[in-house]
Amino acid sequence: LFAGQTDFLKGVVAMDGMPPADRIEVCFAGRSNVGKSSLINALTGRKALARTSNTPGRTQEINFFTLEDSHYLVDLPGYGFAEAPLAIVEKWQRLLKAYLSGRQTLRRAFVLIDSRHGIKKVDHDILDLLNRSAVTFQVVLTKADKIKAGEMNKVIEQVSGELSKYPAAFPQIVLTSSEKGTGIGTLRHIVGTLV
Ligand code: GTP
Ligand code: MG
Repeated sequence: LFAGQTDFLKGVVAMDGMPPADRIEVCFAGRSNVGKSSLINALTGRKALARTSNTPGRTQEINFFTLEDSHYLVDLPGYGFAEAPLAIVEKWQRLLKAYLSGRQTLRRAFVLIDSRHGIKKVDHDILDLLNRSAVTFQVVLTKADKIKAGEMNKVIEQVSGELSKYPAAFPQIVLTSSEKGTGIGTLRHIVGTLV
């Protein structure tokens, strides 16, 4: 699947701009700067497909990427970032929540959590929303190259504990590093098996 054609389709700023819900869709949600866009680039093997940045708040639209003719990969604006003007932040957040709770063909939401930080309060707001909306979500730990194995075990324990509260949570936690390629094959496999 990931050996095939992948392209940027469009950036969406309102629900009525969404492409037709006519294929398998997965999205990548998470706090600003957690590594959503980098992960899409690693998955597709295209370094500059999704724009990444050191500055939180880089992705400001809902970006749709096509994978073959069968899938959409969706890069979302980050949450928990307060440095942009409040009116703008609120507009993104409203759009993000409308998308996460109302997209018919969304098969799975990958919720990215920084390995160094674990699940924070802002993450719970999103997990609650997905859970209430009955969207299956799966946690992806990012930037695994930044921490030691012992610390990783602690984070996994914290995250597993939190996930047990959510019926909509897919129990497997995926450890990744977009930088080193860790877990990318696993994630491709997961996306490839969704129907
Ligand atoms: P927003 O669009 O602002 O919400 O951010 P994002 O979640 O899309 O993050 P992005 O992919 O732009 O990455 C943010 C920063 O983290 C960049 O400087 C990346 O190079 C860095 N980064 C992303 N993934 C990894 C990783 O696996 N390891 C390391 N060390 N750095 C990473
Ligand atoms: Mg981004």
